[in-house]
Amino acid sequence: MNICLVSAEITPFAKMGGLGDVIAAIGKYLARDGHQVKLFMPLYNTFAANAFNLRPIRFSKQVKLNMGHKRFKINFFYTLLPGSRAEVYFVDCPQLYQRNAVYTSDPDEHLRFAVLTRAAIKLCILQNWAPDIFHINDWHTALLPLYLKSIYANESMFQKTKTVLTIHNIGYQGVFEADVINDLGLSEFHFLFDSHDLYHGKINFLKNGLLHAHKITTVSPTYAQEIQTPEYGASLDGLLRKRARDLIGILNGVDYHEWNPETDKQIPFHYSIKNLAGKRKNKSVLLERAGLYKKWLSKPMVAIISRLVQQKGINLIMAVMDDILRRYEMSFVTLGSGDPNYEQYFFSLQSQFPKQVKFFHGYDYPLSHLIEAGADIFLMPSQYEPCGLNQIYSLKYGTVPVVRKTGGLADTVTLYDWKTQTGDGFVFEHYTAEGLRWALEYALTTYPYRSVWRKIMKNGMQKDFSWEKQIKEYEKLYTELISE
Ligand code: ADP
Ligand code: GLC
Repeated sequence: MNICLVSAEITPFAKMGGLGDVIAAIGKYLARDGHQVKLFMPLYNTFAANAFNLRPIRFSKQVKLNMGHKRFKINFFYTLLPGSRAEVYFVDCPQLYQRNAVYTSDPDEHLRFAVLTRAAIKLCILQNWAPDIFHINDWHTALLPLYLKSIYANESMFQKTKTVLTIHNIGYQGVFEADVINDLGLSEFHFLFDSHDLYHGKINFLKNGLLHAHKITTVSPTYAQEIQTPEYGASLDGLLRKRARDLIGILNGVDYHEWNPETDKQIPFHYSIKNLAGKRKNKSVLLERAGLYKKWLSKPMVAIISRLVQQKGINLIMAVMDDILRRYEMSFVTLGSGDPNYEQYFFSLQSQFPKQVKFFHGYDYPLSHLIEAGADIFLMPSQYEPCGLNQIYSLKYGTVPVVRKTGGLADTVTLYDWKTQTGDGFVFEHYTAEGLRWALEYALTTYPYRSVWRKIMKNGMQKDFSWEKQIKEYEKLYTELISE
C-alpha cells in the first residue's frame, strides 16, 4: 500500500510527547512490512537539520500555495526515517515554522498546520504519487479530508484515496475564530464545516476532521469507548457516537529495540527477566545521580516521567504525596516539565524532603531510560490517558506501574491478585485522592514481600506490546478501507 502520514511531530525531529514516537513507529513498521510510506511534518528550527542529512527536493522548489489572500512559497526537504526505508518530507516555510517552538499561541497557529496539510497533498501531486491512505493525526492535520473534498476534489489521483484520522488526545481540538476560514482557502466550501459552530463564530479543526474522515481511530480500545461519553468526549462525544461504526481503538505499541532492559544503550547495567541483578545497580546509580540517601537502596523508589499537566493526575499526587513520604521509608523521583504551578509543587516537595525527593526539571531522554531501569514503582494516576507509553515501558523494565483505570492504562496494566498471582501493577478506579492513596500504599506495603514483588515484576516483563504486533491492526484497517 502507499501510505502518507501527516503529523505535527515525528521523533527524532520533533517530539513533545508520545505523538512523535507513535508516528515514527507507525512509519517505520509499515515500511518494514513492505509498504511505501511517506511522512510529512514542518521544517521547524527546533532541531539540527544538518545532523539528519536533509536534502532539498530540487524538482519542487518555491511551490506556490494560496491560502485565501495569503500567498506562501514552499520548499521541501527530504530524508529517511533513521533506521528505516520510510521517507520523511519536511515542509519548509520559514515565516511559519522558524518560531523556536513546535507549537505556539501565535495568531496564525491555524495557518501553520493548514499549510502543512495542504503542502503534503501538493507534493503527492507533484510527485504523481497516489496514496491509498492519508493517515492524519490530531487537530493539526484534521482538515486534510476537507481539502480532498474541496480544492482537490477533481484530482483524479485521489479518487480512491481514503482518510484515517487518529485522535491521540481529544483535549486539544484546534478551535479558532470562524474568519480563519479565509486563511484556510475554504470560504467557498463553508458548507463542509460544522454549521452550528460556524454560526457561533468558531471553527474546530478536530471536529471537522471527524465529520469527514473515512475512519477514525484512537490509541486504545478503552479510550475509544470513553470518548463517546460526556465525561471524556470533551464535547465531541455526540459526534463520536454518531460515527461509532467508523471508530476503532488500536493500542499503541512500543519499540523494544529502544526500550528493552536487556539491550538498552542508555543504561549502565543490563538485566532481564532471568537475571534482575542489574536493576538494583541501576537504582544505585540513579540514587547517586539524584543526590538521595544511599540507605534507600533497599526501600521502594517511586518515579514519574511526564509532561506536568492536569491530564496526568498531578492534582492527586499533590493531595497525598507529602503524607505518604512522611509515613514510608521510600524515595521519590520526578522527571518533567510543564505547568509552572506543578513545577513549583515538585520544587517545594524537594526542599521539604531533600533526602527523599528529587525533581529533575526538564526533558532528558537518557535520564528517562535510567529512571525506568532504576525505579521500583512507576506512578501514572492520569485523569484521562488516550494510551500512555511510559507505563508500557515500565512493565518491560520491571518497574511496577501504579495507574488509574482509564484509557490505555486500563488496557495495559492489570491489578495484582494475591490468590491467583496474576496481574502486573496496582490499579485504582475513581479519580480521587483516596483511590491513588489506596493503590500507592498497596504497592508500598507489598514491596517488602520480595518473592511476591518479583512475581509482579516478571508478570509485567513478560507482556508483549511490540509494534511488530500492533502494526498489523493498522494494516488490517487500511486493507479493509481500501477494499470498501
Ligand atoms: P503524552 O503524549 O500524553 O505526553 P505518552 O505517555 O504517550 O504521554 O508519551 C510521553 C513520552 O514522552 C514518553 O516517551 C516519555 O518517556 C516522554 N517524556 C515525557 N516527559 C519527558 C521528560 N521530561 N524527559 C524525557 N522524556 C519524557
Ligand atoms: C497523546 C496521549 C498519550 C498517547 C500519545 C500517543 O499525547 O496523551 O496518551 O500515548 O498521544 O498516541
